[in-house]
Amino acid sequence: TKNFLKCFHSKTNLSVSNSSSDVIFTENSSSYTSVLQSSAQNLRFLTPSAPKPQLIITPLDKSHIQAAVICAKKNSINIRIRSGGHDYEGRSYVSNIPFIIVDLSKLRSIQVDMESKTAWVESGATLGELYHAIADQSKVYGFSAGTCPTIGVGGHLSGGGMGTLFRKYGLAADNIIDANMVDANGRVLDRKSMGEDLFWAIRGGGGASFGIIFAWKVQLVPVPSTVTVFTITKTLEQGAAQLLQKWQLVSNNFSENLFLRLVIAGADSAGGNKTIAVSFAAVFLGPTEQLLTTMEESFPELGVAQNDCSEMSWIESVLYVAGFSTSASYDVLLNRTNSNKSYFKGKSDYVKEPISENGLQGLWNILLQEQSGYMIWTPYGGKMDEISEYEIPFPHRSGNLYEIQYMITWEAEEETKEHVDWIRRLYGYTTPFVSQNPRSSYLNYRDLDLGINVNKHESYGQASVWGLKYFNSNFKRLAQIKAKVDPSNFFWYEQSIPLFSS
Ligand code: FDA
Repeated sequence: TKNFLKCFHSKTNLSVSNSSSDVIFTENSSSYTSVLQSSAQNLRFLTPSAPKPQLIITPLDKSHIQAAVICAKKNSINIRIRSGGHDYEGRSYVSNIPFIIVDLSKLRSIQVDMESKTAWVESGATLGELYHAIADQSKVYGFSAGTCPTIGVGGHLSGGGMGTLFRKYGLAADNIIDANMVDANGRVLDRKSMGEDLFWAIRGGGGASFGIIFAWKVQLVPVPSTVTVFTITKTLEQGAAQLLQKWQLVSNNFSENLFLRLVIAGADSAGGNKTIAVSFAAVFLGPTEQLLTTMEESFPELGVAQNDCSEMSWIESVLYVAGFSTSASYDVLLNRTNSNKSYFKGKSDYVKEPISENGLQGLWNILLQEQSGYMIWTPYGGKMDEISEYEIPFPHRSGNLYEIQYMITWEAEEETKEHVDWIRRLYGYTTPFVSQNPRSSYLNYRDLDLGINVNKHESYGQASVWGLKYFNSNFKRLAQIKAKVDPSNFFWYEQSIPLFSS
């Protein structure tokens, strides 16, 4: 790293002693550990034995990003790019080869332009900060992205981005209209200078294979002044299984104003036995009266009543879904750190045919074996059916009824094996019920079990084992673009796009 630092200093105007202390953190810096841990979400990758970066760079300006890329390339050092640190497999702050982190947390300005209904947002901003900045300007505009406010814009937008508005407006990545990045040669590019191929690749293909994207121009979307939410929980004894069967048949065709996802987990029944509880959690873009009519038409069995519903502004619904009190100030969205970090492992699937009653029964048996395991089922359809699977690299469009996220969290390192074994068992069980050839997964719920690049020379064919699962037939185009824009495979990581050679 000595040579890297020498190069970095010579390319930036930071003096070795003073001003660099805000930007460069070596293992000897007093705040090295706190900076490393700051946004890292998954405690699995912060254990004492987890590999640590030789350096952390927190750029204050794009010239620092350019210098980091040029000097890392010159010295053959692997870079991990971090925006919000929510990567499920810690790939933004852990690597199996010597590495440094370029952490964009200090590049987080947001400029909202209500005239054009667009915003420029830097990658280090969180979704909470973005939603907050929009709400400061307007209560009838929002942005279509994820539900956890501490997620970083950088990783989220470049990997997809799915939340309560996506059935009406598509993913976050569908709503990007320009971007600024530093490529593998250290050049600063915008949409025009990067060209439409590269601009296509960074909207859902995972930015870290192609460069460091430091800002995005996004399209804001209209939301009504009143939205309605409800959460209704039913156990098996209360008919959850029948409701779930019906939900599987109808949720894909729900009005695009309705986002009604399920959280499914083991629970204690009234009689003290173990049971399964299904939470039906909705955000509806409109008032209660309209929601009740919609529910009556499409899912009367759930029996939603007026007093199950609460009306609020869209920004309050962001708080509601994130688990905050809706009467609190939306300033809580400015809190960048998630206070309950844990060890976790997630996986995902897409479902094209409803799972049979028998199939569900087996699922309950496995879920009941774990206290802190759960599934989230998110309906697709609506706008997602209208966008071609080739429009951006994210391919999971028409034909998918819903997406399953499997999740398990735990509190102590020594429990890791048992919990990871459990979620793998659950995933093994669902094999016959979910998408096949390929069995599809969502990139933003990264899962290294699908396969990894063992080294820089992994072939397109080898990487297809996992690449087709995330990107389907878009994987080939991603690999062709990668070969063009990063032929030395500088931006390599365990699930970076390989180079396509014909
Ligand atoms: P992080 O900084 O870890 O980066 C993730 C990946 O992107 C890494 O490979 C990284 O190198 C790369 N990267 C980051 N910044 C980059 C940049 N500027 N340029 C190029 N590459 C960059 N998803 C969803 O769709 N909807 C949801 O509601 C949720 N909810 C949710 C809750 C919680 C608690 C977690 C932990 C995660 C989610 N997610 C999610 C998943 C989330 O979208 C996913 O982990 C994102 O990649 C996180 O982006 P960050 O910038 O925070 O992560």
